[in-house]
Amino acid sequence: MAARTQVGIIGAGPAGLFLAHLLHRAGISSVIVEHRSRQAIEGTLRAGVLEQWTVDLMNEMGLGERMMREAHFHSGITLRFNRQSHHIDMAGLTGGKRVTVYAQHEVIKDLVAARLAHGGEIVFDVGETSLHDIEGKPEIRYRPHQTGEIETLRCDFIVGCDGQYGPSRQAIPDAVRTEYHKTYPFGWLGILADAPPAHHELIYNNHSRGFALLSTRTPTVQRYYLQCDPQDNVAQWSDDRIWAELHRRTETVDGWKLTEGPITQKGIIAMRCFVSEPMQHGRLFIAGDAAHIVPPTGAKGLNLAVADVVVLSRALDAHYRKGATDLLEAYSETALKRIWKAERFSWYMTSMLHRNKAESSFEQRVHLAELDYLISSRAAATALAENYVGLPIN
Ligand code: DHB
Repeated sequence: MAARTQVGIIGAGPAGLFLAHLLHRAGISSVIVEHRSRQAIEGTLRAGVLEQWTVDLMNEMGLGERMMREAHFHSGITLRFNRQSHHIDMAGLTGGKRVTVYAQHEVIKDLVAARLAHGGEIVFDVGETSLHDIEGKPEIRYRPHQTGEIETLRCDFIVGCDGQYGPSRQAIPDAVRTEYHKTYPFGWLGILADAPPAHHELIYNNHSRGFALLSTRTPTVQRYYLQCDPQDNVAQWSDDRIWAELHRRTETVDGWKLTEGPITQKGIIAMRCFVSEPMQHGRLFIAGDAAHIVPPTGAKGLNLAVADVVVLSRALDAHYRKGATDLLEAYSETALKRIWKAERFSWYMTSMLHRNKAESSFEQRVHLAELDYLISSRAAATALAENYVGLPIN
């Protein structure tokens, strides 16, 4: 027998989990199917900066208790170039909005635990997920690892929160779909190191050898990134090479020095921009990485995914409470307005801070002028700050 729910959600990442919580709060039932295991989704390292409204939303929904205890709240960031540090006072420039450092997988753990505690259904470890009749009576079919039997979930709507490689986006016919791409000729090597924090806020370093970012996880674990060749293999990055490169790219005129420690994790991240339009077809909606990718500079990915489902949950709420369809019909357009601004910001931060072999020396100098402008103009710094702490959701 087929199971039934109001909203069938594919994917238990930030978009799918926040959506399930938002729908639950509105009295709308949902089931999440996820192809990975709970352990895998709770252990995958991603970026770690939450926009102010994401933090507020977690608190408002009763999901923020551990975050408020364990996250790091910074009033700004440091931009370092020409071996000098410059503080950007995000809180001062935005009326008190802060930079919250709390890793994505910690958010995932909190959301999964709370969803299960509320009696929510998340089916992990499913294979062969497929979408059917999205223009009529939608169904999700999948094969749970445990039973091996194909199951059918009937729903009023399907929301694809299944990332770049999930089946949802592909279910929107090619003829109505437009995809926008940009791939960078560089990637990031990300590491975790057992070391004390480098500084009381994140440091974004523009250096002639390439970008470096000093972020944090806990008082004893730090998260650092180095611009690298996207074809590089972690085996090419010995611990010694990583530290030498981090020292070079973060050194200052006043002799500041990064403290080393054992490296416990290494991974390489590709960098690209991607947007797929529209984000709806029939009774299928897509959200988060299923619809768009930002390069990691500025850590917008999770926040953008959550913003999508805030817009969508309001529209679903209006539909179920009042029979209104206008917000549902406007979902794609409403979400894309904010998405393109986040794409712009991530692209801007990425171009300004990295060395791009495909660019001329003229462009390199323009990026330095941009940094110099940022530290000398309150208007420019405010524009950076309001994007960094998070644009409003319309
Ligand atoms: C982190 C990642 C980012 O891309 C960023 O801009 C800031 C912090 C992080 O993983 O901590």
